[in-house]
Amino acid sequence: MLPCTQKLSQLSWKPKGVILSGGPYSVYDADAPHVDPAVFELDVPVLGVCYGLQEIAWNHGKNVSAGERKEYGHAVLNVTRHTDAAPHVDVLFSGLDASLEVWMSHGDKLASLPPNFVTIATTANAPFAGIAHKDRKLYGIQFHPEVTHTAKGKAIIENFAVKLCQCRQNWTMERFVDTEIERIRAVVGPTGQVIGAVSGGVDSTVAAKLMKEAIGDRFHAILVDNGVMRLNECEIVHETLTKGLNINLTVVDASEEFLGKLKGVTDPEVKRKIIGNTFIEVFQREAERVVKESGGAVDFLLQGTLYPDVIESISFKGPSATIKTHHNVGGLLENMKLKLIEPLRELFKDEVRVLGTNLGIPEDLVWRHPFPGPGIAIRVIGEVTPEQVAIARKADHIFIEEIKAAGLYREISQAYAALLPVKAVGVMGDKRVHDQVIALRAVQTTDYMTADWYDFDGKFMRKVAGRIVNEVDGVCRVLYDVTQKPPGTIEFQ
Ligand code: XMP
Repeated sequence: MLPCTQKLSQLSWKPKGVILSGGPYSVYDADAPHVDPAVFELDVPVLGVCYGLQEIAWNHGKNVSAGERKEYGHAVLNVTRHTDAAPHVDVLFSGLDASLEVWMSHGDKLASLPPNFVTIATTANAPFAGIAHKDRKLYGIQFHPEVTHTAKGKAIIENFAVKLCQCRQNWTMERFVDTEIERIRAVVGPTGQVIGAVSGGVDSTVAAKLMKEAIGDRFHAILVDNGVMRLNECEIVHETLTKGLNINLTVVDASEEFLGKLKGVTDPEVKRKIIGNTFIEVFQREAERVVKESGGAVDFLLQGTLYPDVIESISFKGPSATIKTHHNVGGLLENMKLKLIEPLRELFKDEVRVLGTNLGIPEDLVWRHPFPGPGIAIRVIGEVTPEQVAIARKADHIFIEEIKAAGLYREISQAYAALLPVKAVGVMGDKRVHDQVIALRAVQTTDYMTADWYDFDGKFMRKVAGRIVNEVDGVCRVLYDVTQKPPGTIEFQ
């Protein structure tokens, strides 16, 4: 993974192929980034995706324009085969049906076919949804093969990597675990110590368990209760990590400190910053205590960084134009002179789950829906007070409890209840009430970059809504969010 402006003359190796990814710019913008034209002279296969397709067109005649309408979400792709053309032209979609479900997310499109290219796929809104050069292994596709909702996306990438670039497929999870444990032992040394925060989520738990396997109790885990976690979360995490997984864990209750600082704050990005910064302060305090008590120097900080985080941080401008400011504990590195250790940085979420299962982590935890660092604070829209948190927490618990009871938890990737800062009118016990509104959201995704809402049946919805208005004081209405991502993000804020 390299920034798109990488100069090829500065690379000491030759790639077997190049994939030009999507991006937020328009190729015709004055400040748009452009690839080194040498990419097209390398004589290796090149696949451009979305912005990458437009970049190929830009390099071959500049025929790119703003689409009349933006296209986000599902589309049907019709593959055009060219049996009379050079054999490489049809390889990208070889072995696949003539009609494919794909995911689009773009505003620009090709105005015309660049010279010497043929169309290999179309959609109703994109006449050049896939193009290939007649003589060279140069391909562009308008849709995103890398996201879950492009059903045959992996097969398309495999066709490119294996059939066109002749790459070998030799990565296995078993080999990954063995080499990662060896690598951790070599990096940390025979007496080195590591600290790391755990949240009860699958990433930090798997990272912690991997450290435990590699260096035993020289790994110190810290769980910070920030007051905006789910119902009974700290107790459950404590029980699972210490009793179940034997991890050396300290729990710190800092809920008052967090909620105190969140008082009066409504801006979600400010909430994120406050929670991120307070987390660093609390963690730092605790880490210093653990260092003192453990008697030896702690040199390393464990982070459960996944590959999507790595992708976000690689950009021609430095860390990318982030969609949201996800918190991290980067500040600690300078203050405590800690070195970062990130054993999961090459993995995606679905791979972390396989790894967790291989390491003996209980199913419940491995399949736990992700939960954002700022927790319920970004699901209470408006001011975060202990009372509002309690309402959102209770509604969320009911929703998840019913999802589990209906056997749907694994089918759904992420579900939660958000509390909206509006009052709606209701009739309760013959009295008119003005109470708050709960919005439920449940989505299916594997990469969390695109997502579709989950289609519950009416009976289920009726039961959940009934329980929430009956059991949660202060709520008189329940809504269900039916927005796809994009454009709607998974979280409300
Ligand atoms: P969005 O809302 O961007 O979320 O579609 C994608 C995934 O990221 C999670 N998320 C966060 N995680 N800190 C986190 O640690 C954050 O500030 C944050 N915001 C969103 C979200 O829950 C989903 O899994």
